[in-house]
Amino acid sequence: MAQKISDTALDYVINEMIEVVENSKDEIFNISEEARKEHEHLVKELKETKEKVIRHIDDGDQLEQKVRYSRQRLAEVSKYFDRYSENEIREVYENTHAMQTKLAMIQQEEKALREKRDDLERRLISLSHTIERAEALASKIAVILTYLHDDFKQVNKMIESAKEKQEFGLKIIEAQEEERRRISREIHDGPAQMLANILLRSELVDRSFRANNVEQALVEIKDVRKMVRSSLYEVRRIIYDLRPMALDDLGLIPTIKKYVANIADYNNTEIEFSSTGEEKRLNQKYEVAFFRLVQESVQNAIKHAEASLIQVKLEICKNNLTMLIKDNGKGFDTKQKKDKSFGLIGMRERVEMLEGKMKINSKIDKGTSILIQVPYNL
Ligand SMILES: Nc1ncnc2c1ncn2[C@@H]1O[C@H](COP(=O)(O)OP(=O)(O)O)[C@@H](O)[C@H]1O
Ligand SMILES: [Mg+2]
Repeated sequence: MAQKISDTALDYVINEMIEVVENSKDEIFNISEEARKEHEHLVKELKETKEKVIRHIDDGDQLEQKVRYSRQRLAEVSKYFDRYSENEIREVYENTHAMQTKLAMIQQEEKALREKRDDLERRLISLSHTIERAEALASKIAVILTYLHDDFKQVNKMIESAKEKQEFGLKIIEAQEEERRRISREIHDGPAQMLANILLRSELVDRSFRANNVEQALVEIKDVRKMVRSSLYEVRRIIYDLRPMALDDLGLIPTIKKYVANIADYNNTEIEFSSTGEEKRLNQKYEVAFFRLVQESVQNAIKHAEASLIQVKLEICKNNLTMLIKDNGKGFDTKQKKDKSFGLIGMRERVEMLEGKMKINSKIDKGTSILIQVPYNL
């Protein structure tokens, strides 16, 4: 429950962050859109201003020529003022003055236009910088969003798997204790009780001998022998369950064969085992791991699947070991995690420890197959 709450809290925080960052991204987009529009507008205005400047220069040039001509005319009229009427002189004078005033105005306007042009150019440069900065920021934000969406969300998964591992560690300790309890009970109920019986019976043999009842003594000793044999069988079975010695003595394939035959016999289920590739002794670590993988998956197929056929295939290649365990049973939903189940998790842990991969495929009513691949150099 506590885990659920912290998971949703983390999700909430991440989603909140994503929302804030997404809003900032939209805002930056708006800013850069506005800047871009303003930029377009300024470019248009600059073009018009430049054209106006050129027009003013042309107009100014023409007017200047006219003013020069008018001045000459004024000088001439002034020099020979006796040849011209007062009206004519005034007209020339006023004309010249008007043109000079207009020229000054045009020059003034041209200056203002040039200043405007320079100002527009400066603003355009600064706007370009703003747009560039906004674009850079937008791409940084896109990176952050990817982080938040993909990488950060995986933190949740990582926490989950760390918790799973921690629980698995605890489960191992628990399982160890349970195993010890089971073994001590088995020895207590089995071989220990049988030995006590044997001791008792051997005393009876002793007594019969002393009473010279050889016949009776022979019957007793036959019984004792039977009991010793079955104790021996029990002890061997317990040892085998702990760790099949065949695994160390004979190797993986003969041990799996023997195990599978035993289990099939005991559970009345058909189990096929086949191996291809080299039948070589493997590194002990791998032999133990693969034996335990077979054990867990076969036990699952028997316990949960109610399968009538289980197939185990092992392939020993030059660079890897492949194993397929397949049953024709009930199947299950692999996405659903059981709280107190650690068999499959343990299998995965083992495979990951050997840097391999494990894939579970299961279909309801169709059965389950588990494919394991582990790199291995022969
Ligand atoms: N071969 C299978 N067929 C059907 N269900 C399976 C099989 N293997 C595993 N399961 C399901 O997955 C669960 C988890 O298995 P496991 O991790 O081995 O834990 P456990 O065996 O202790 O329940 C089982 O309880 C069972 O519901
Ligand atoms: Mg299991």
